[in-house]
Amino acid sequence: MTKLNWGMIGGGEGSQIGPAHRLGAQADGNFTLAAGALDFDPERGRAYAQRLGVAPDRAYGDWREMLAGEAARDDRVDLVTVATPNATHFEIARAFLQAGFHVLCEKPMTMTVEEGEEIVRVAKAAGRICAVNYCYSAYPMVRQMRAMVAAGEIGKVRLVVTSFSHGHHGDAGDADNPRVRWRYDPKMAGVSGQFADCGIHALHMASFVCGDEVRELSADFASTIPSRVLEDDAMVNFRMQGGTVGRLWTSSVAIGRQHGFDIQVFGETGGLRWASEQPNQVFYTPVGGRTQIMEKGEAGLSDEAARLSRVAIAHPEGFPLAVANIYVDLAAAIRGEQHGALPRAEDGLRSMAAVHAAVASARDRGAWVDARPPMFR
Ligand code: NAI
Repeated sequence: MTKLNWGMIGGGEGSQIGPAHRLGAQADGNFTLAAGALDFDPERGRAYAQRLGVAPDRAYGDWREMLAGEAARDDRVDLVTVATPNATHFEIARAFLQAGFHVLCEKPMTMTVEEGEEIVRVAKAAGRICAVNYCYSAYPMVRQMRAMVAAGEIGKVRLVVTSFSHGHHGDAGDADNPRVRWRYDPKMAGVSGQFADCGIHALHMASFVCGDEVRELSADFASTIPSRVLEDDAMVNFRMQGGTVGRLWTSSVAIGRQHGFDIQVFGETGGLRWASEQPNQVFYTPVGGRTQIMEKGEAGLSDEAARLSRVAIAHPEGFPLAVANIYVDLAAAIRGEQHGALPRAEDGLRSMAAVHAAVASARDRGAWVDARPPMFR
């Protein structure tokens, strides 16, 4: 089978998420890094792309140059990953979709609900895939939980509780460091800080595992470091369409917590628990029974958990391979083959609607607000 050509925008040298995309996209032999505009500094971007093996004429200085260059080629890239800072996602993703490229966009997909709706419309009109990198949903044992919920193994889900709370911005003495400060500055980050950055991963996870969507929410936002305009801590209560009660805590000042992303799902006949720092295990407790630890790679897991697990039982299998699972399904989708769940532009749009609903709710002292995008009401 021929490899697909892949291009990347952002994710340059020293970036946080760039390496996970490069490892993930190339892990299974589906994609070749054929083009890139990797850095906001054109020369650095060109030089780094070439060091990664990109031909000089496809190591671009910026994304507009890449769009023009790739659109004119017969062997144009099949997929473009957008891994730049948040405020640039919309413009870049829209331009590539309109020019007929498939896109994998980092989260948050856009800054506003209107932009999110436009991406959904543009992708549909162009007949192209716009996926969003909710990569935690691609861990094998997250797929296991989803399959168990869907099969009714814990009964109707009453309650989902999730947190994405770390402590890496908890040092008030470091709050003015430019790499931290922009995240809480509305001019750079938009309407929300921590909730838009990490909370939406947790909210997407709740929807993904429960197989349901958020209908309404009530939020309490706090800027615990006073110089911050946007929230560094949020508690969000929500209700799903099917009536499931949801609780979500996200924070960047929870000193001592590292990645701090976990989810618990409580049904009528059992409960499930998963944490990103122990991604190979799901804790399952049947009502009235003992807690069992389910291990990635063991016999008897769901088809999806088995399909997306590559390394033998008890060997660590981490974040870049979860990203790789997104690329596996993207490659299959691009080739028109059968594939598993792919987080899409619709999910990116739902997240943006939830962010704006949470901001409105927090400003109104926790009033309950419709969290659905107008397009889906
Ligand atoms: P970063 O600041 O570490 O790196 C950003 C990279 O993009 C740098 O190489 C920079 O030179 C480049 N860049 C900036 N503007 C550009 C432009 N106009 N054209 C080309 N390149 C440009 O940022 P980080 O943490 O890697 O985040 C990037 C995106 O990935 C963000 O949207 C973030 O929310 C998302 N992210 C997602 C994660 C996930 O779990 N899915 C985890 C971490 C980040």
